[in-house]
Amino acid sequence: MASFPSSLLVLALLAPNIIQASHISAPYVHRHHTRALNLPQGWRAQGCITDNPGARSLTGSAFTDTVNMTVESCVNFCVQGGFIFAGLEFSQECYCGNNIVNGGTNATASDCNAPCKGDATEECGGNSRLSLFWSGQQPPPPPQTVPSVGLWKSLGCFSDNGGSRTLGNQFQPTGNFSVETCTDTCFNNGYPLAGMEFADECYCDTDFRNGGASTPLADCNMPCAGNSSEFCGGPNRLNVYNFTGTLPHGPTPPAGGGGGGGGGGTPVFPATDLPAPWEYAACYVDGAHGRVFPNELADNSNLTIESCIASCSAQNFTLAGAEFSVQCFCGNTLINGATLGQEADCNMGCGGNATEACGGPNRLSVYTATGNVTALPVPVTQNTSLPDGWSYQGCLQDGGTRVFPHQLNWVDNTTVVDCINQCQAFGFPAAGLEFGNQCFCGDVSDAQTNSPGLAPESDCSFPCSGDPIHLCGGPLRLGYYSFNGNLDVWHTPANTGRYEFLIGGLVVPLVATVGLNGKVNFLEKLGTGFPNSTGAYELDLSLVDDFEHAWRELHVHSDVFCSASIILPDKGARQLNVGGWSLESTFGVRLYTPNGTPGVNGTNDWEENFNELHLQQGRWYPSSLVMPNGSVLVVGGEEGSNGAPIPTLEILPTPEGGPTYLFMDWLERTDPNNLYPFLHVLPSGNIFVGYYNEARILNPKTFDTIKTLPNMPGSVTSFTGGRTYPMEGTAVLLPQRAPYTDPLEILICGGLRLWRCSRQLCHHGTRG
Ligand SMILES: *[C@@H]1O[C@H](CO)[C@@H](O)[C@H](O)[C@H]1NC(C)=O
Ligand SMILES: *[C@@H]1O[C@H](CO)[C@@H](O)[C@H](O)[C@H]1NC(C)=O
Ligand SMILES: *[C@@H]1O[C@H](CO)[C@@H](O)[C@H](O)[C@H]1NC(C)=O
Ligand SMILES: *[C@@H]1O[C@H](CO)[C@@H](O)[C@H](O)[C@H]1NC(C)=O
Ligand SMILES: *[C@@H]1O[C@H](CO)[C@@H](O)[C@H](O)[C@H]1NC(C)=O
Ligand SMILES: *[C@@H]1O[C@H](CO)[C@@H](O)[C@H](O)[C@H]1NC(C)=O
Ligand SMILES: *[C@@H]1O[C@H](CO)[C@@H](O)[C@H](O)[C@H]1NC(C)=O
Ligand SMILES: *[C@@H]1O[C@H](CO)[C@@H](O)[C@H](O)[C@H]1NC(C)=O
Ligand SMILES: *[C@@H]1O[C@H](CO)[C@@H](O)[C@H](O)[C@H]1NC(C)=O
Ligand SMILES: *[C@@H]1O[C@H](CO)[C@@H](O)[C@H](O)[C@H]1NC(C)=O
Ligand SMILES: *[C@@H]1O[C@H](CO)[C@@H](O)[C@H](O)[C@H]1NC(C)=O
Ligand SMILES: *[C@@H]1O[C@H](CO)[C@@H](O)[C@H](O)[C@H]1NC(C)=O
Repeated sequence: MASFPSSLLVLALLAPNIIQASHISAPYVHRHHTRALNLPQGWRAQGCITDNPGARSLTGSAFTDTVNMTVESCVNFCVQGGFIFAGLEFSQECYCGNNIVNGGTNATASDCNAPCKGDATEECGGNSRLSLFWSGQQPPPPPQTVPSVGLWKSLGCFSDNGGSRTLGNQFQPTGNFSVETCTDTCFNNGYPLAGMEFADECYCDTDFRNGGASTPLADCNMPCAGNSSEFCGGPNRLNVYNFTGTLPHGPTPPAGGGGGGGGGGTPVFPATDLPAPWEYAACYVDGAHGRVFPNELADNSNLTIESCIASCSAQNFTLAGAEFSVQCFCGNTLINGATLGQEADCNMGCGGNATEACGGPNRLSVYTATGNVTALPVPVTQNTSLPDGWSYQGCLQDGGTRVFPHQLNWVDNTTVVDCINQCQAFGFPAAGLEFGNQCFCGDVSDAQTNSPGLAPESDCSFPCSGDPIHLCGGPLRLGYYSFNGNLDVWHTPANTGRYEFLIGGLVVPLVATVGLNGKVNFLEKLGTGFPNSTGAYELDLSLVDDFEHAWRELHVHSDVFCSASIILPDKGARQLNVGGWSLESTFGVRLYTPNGTPGVNGTNDWEENFNELHLQQGRWYPSSLVMPNGSVLVVGGEEGSNGAPIPTLEILPTPEGGPTYLFMDWLERTDPNNLYPFLHVLPSGNIFVGYYNEARILNPKTFDTIKTLPNMPGSVTSFTGGRTYPMEGTAVLLPQRAPYTDPLEILICGGLRLWRCSRQLCHHGTRG
């Protein structure tokens, strides 16, 4: 018996069932360089560093190549992006960056021994490990918020909203996008305020509009597209600069002053002869409490009333509004407390027709297709008609780290009640509405831990996109609601059980099975144990105080990585293990008949002979089940590590004249998200199968579907989450009790949202 004890915790109350390991990543074979790398000048290996798939060590740029990845292809890719670091991971992933961030640190060199997919003689990192390469150069200076450019002074970072801009006029600077080129553009167009957003958008205006407010400087964290040493805003965030000198002339509308903005000089008129049923309504005041139309179209220097109406009409809106010569808005109602303005204030000619009135500064020429205009009041906080137990708590500050972890964006249908209902359905007692159309779910403790506290109520001033008479927060402000009703009462059982440390172990177990002999049989994935491990050991529970005698060595003949195990319903309670990893192992059928007694070693060992008995199809990650008549059913899997699906099921053993496996379209359709499907025999004798986010009941003789069950719900933000491997959930039958007339219940828990789980990432060990 070899003595390489590793720590092993055994559950004190061992039940005769199977634990299938599902947190095992693909195997690595140790390789060594056989030739020198051919790297660009100056590039050199920098050893092995840690990486965290949730917060990468290199964040600049990345690609995956499951076929041709080599150190050279990755380094060249990073060189082209202008990066000084390149890192390879998990045989097939390449990351670039200029700094090692998120706590990446040196790791043991031997952790980075995965063969590159494109050249097995090269090493491409490992699981959460990067083989690091460096150009030998120092990183470029990090970007900064430029305090001033000429007479332009930084005012900091401000909130913006695509629907109602903080700075109303967008221009396209010529040349490389930077603080310099955007401020030049605003200067030339006569505006004293310039804002840069999302790396390459330039906005100019004479004043702040629509409640745009100062936000933390850290929100403006995107380098300018044309100068990586300067910040140019962020998503919905503007770096704003103020001109402190004298402008050459007054403001000009965007897009080069085309069209004939009347500006009050030439008389202008509402348009007539419009396509029925459109007609002019009136001149309305915009912006007194925020934009009065919910939707703004892109500025158009050729705007006419006809073109604005045509655009709104094409989207089935019944109201159209034109403002400031070039702006067109659509909606079905006016929101935010629109009031009538003086007709004479709608005095700017349209950009595309100087004799038609297209509103004025903060004035809208409004047209209707229904003969009337409904103007909704200034929205108020909703604190009545809320779901039971919920109440409004205030306007809560949100920040760079979100207060609540789960975010839903319902662009045009967010309401307070829908948001609360969605959070409640997934068990969250806190809900927050932000920016008019975002719904967040979380815990009350999140509000206490993650928020600096409440803000003035006036900060929460955005109408809800789906209910414009109520407020849904503001920029980085949450309309915060919480549940104060009664929760289900949870009881702690009198005997809660306990864990005990029993004995040092020999393997990292993939499968652990209690035998009829009272001993526990462990199977390990080849290559995770000590060098001479046989991969199979039996623990005598009567000898846990005597390490030298407690373990008996057994022998498996092929690789059980991601196999399936069950206990046969025969007198010997034989243990059956099927499938596995790679080539013949995926066809593996392995049997062990436990013998021996407490204190006395048994004599039986694992039996396996590919030529005598093997699966009809090779399977990696299949599930197996003892059927009501004692036959063994094996379902699904893939050909091998991340290989083609095996969307079939088969009964053991292969009969004379086989093969007899059956194709299941639902397995093919849901690959690769249906591995280790959940299998249970129901009291009816029918078979339950759960896979991805679906489930169905099969006839145990024909394997036809008897019933398709409703999909399992996903996560609070996405219904496309799933439950089976690689999404890491699990399922158990809940106990039934005499007289067994209650409906059978299956408890399914755990799982992941789909987007977190591309094939590579999940098998790579990235889990939510
Ligand atoms: C990490 O490894 C690199 C390359 O081997 C070495 O230059 C560096 O000093 C190491 N850093 C630490 C903190 O050990
Ligand atoms: C890998 O390289 C080979 C040979 O250059 C090429 O034919 C193939 O398309 C590449 N495959 C991928 C996935 O890039
Ligand atoms: C834009 O940047 C590129 C690359 O730095 C440079 O070659 C080019 O001259 C710049 N163009 C202008 C108009 O400054
Ligand atoms: C890029 O930004 C830096 C920092 O503001 C500035 O010194 C440099 O002149 C800028 N480069 C160009 C080409 O504008
Ligand atoms: C911009 O600068 C001018 C001149 O210094 C000043 O009068 C004005 O208040 C500033 N505007 C803002 C929004 O800070
Ligand atoms: C401009 O608008 C007026 C008033 O609606 C209309 O009579 C005229 O035909 C329009 N001109 C063009 C070129 O569309
Ligand atoms: C505006 O109209 C002019 C002349 O008809 C045309 O050349 C130009 O491309 C149009 N601009 C836009 C933004 O449609
Ligand atoms: C507008 O309504 C028509 C008729 O109801 C419908 O066919 C069309 O898809 C709608 N268009 C949009 C953009 O919703
Ligand atoms: C507006 O007109 C539509 C269609 O004519 C009608 O159904 C609606 O009741 C009217 N609304 C108001 C507030 O008058
Ligand atoms: C809002 O609309 C989206 C897309 O149409 C839909 O998926 C979502 O369920 C809707 N939300 C509510 C609360 O109805
Ligand atoms: C493993 O096997 C080698 C030879 O095959 C032997 O020299 C070595 O002692 C063995 N190690 C253990 C821990 O049994
Ligand atoms: C059982 O066999 C193993 C060898 O596999 C040996 O190390 C161990 O001492 C034996 N245990 C007993 C109780 O004889």
